[in-house]
Amino acid sequence: MVQTKVLPYDAGAIAEAARLIGEGLPVGVPTETVYGLAADATRGEAVARIYEAKGRPSFNPLIVHVLDVGQAETVAEFDVQAQELAERHWPGPLTLVLPLRPGSPIASLVTAGLPTVAIRAPAHPAMRDLLVAAGRPLAAPSANASGRISPTRAEHVLASLGGRISLIVDGGPTGHGLESTIVAVSGGRMRLLRPGPIDLGLDTDTGGGVEAPGQLESHYAPARPLRLDATAAAGDEWLIGFGEVAGDASLSRSGDLVEAAAGLFDRLHEAERQDRPRIAVAPIPDNGIGRAINDRLRRAAAPRS
Ligand code: TXA
Ligand code: MG
Repeated sequence: MVQTKVLPYDAGAIAEAARLIGEGLPVGVPTETVYGLAADATRGEAVARIYEAKGRPSFNPLIVHVLDVGQAETVAEFDVQAQELAERHWPGPLTLVLPLRPGSPIASLVTAGLPTVAIRAPAHPAMRDLLVAAGRPLAAPSANASGRISPTRAEHVLASLGGRISLIVDGGPTGHGLESTIVAVSGGRMRLLRPGPIDLGLDTDTGGGVEAPGQLESHYAPARPLRLDATAAAGDEWLIGFGEVAGDASLSRSGDLVEAAAGLFDRLHEAERQDRPRIAVAPIPDNGIGRAINDRLRRAAAPRS
């Protein structure tokens, strides 16, 4: 348990929030849609602590928050259509799902290993001040514990995440009270992934289908057979270790679950690049963020249709 401070939004609160972000910790901060739980999007362990605080039993890709199109272009690839949408609606509650830029500084846990990234420039001055003070893109899902409704007031965040995060910046009730519209843009096509405050006139006819979050086309799984709970590798397996199981690579030699979560997708991608045709993974304790790791590993191991 940590002591959760709630500070009214002012320069001091933002400075304190930026200091915590610099330490790799998540902070609650208002956006114009709902309160977000923000952490340094470039550091896997900082992002893992978002999951730890939310107690989310699975890894879903998170939204990256930036100040403007210029900063967004360091993260994602914009075609003409994406550029037009961003120019028209940013800063504001529109999230674009775009190809991840090669060499992008975003930690692989943010995108849950996907080659695309969800990105938006928020309008709320508190989140914008924090982006300036932190000087880097921030990953932020809604600041509620897993299974709870999205928070539109600092009190909601406190009720849900009190004792689990160090700071909530209180900027009063949020304007929209509804999460951002999410649109995937690729190859000249737009698809509405989540309806929200910005109505682009997309529907199932013109947009090609609304997908409920959590069942996106988008779950990364390695294109190789994967065996769980392995304590030793067969001859044709690349073993991803944990703790005492050394393996060919390790999620965490010291058995640290936050470190393991931070590097999970990097280790899986690395395993896919090896010339051994199969992947095995050491047992991961099924507590805390280990539950999310095991959820993702089980899905990756399930036979694909
Ligand atoms: O209004 C908002 O968007 C709030 C505030 C805090 O900015 N954030 C928010 O984040 O709602 P979150 O993590 O609760 O929702 C992220 C959604 C999820 O449904 C996720 O599946 C989708 O974005 N998403 C993220 N990356 C994606 C990707 N690469 N492809 C498809 N969907 C993606
Ligand atoms: Mg949410």
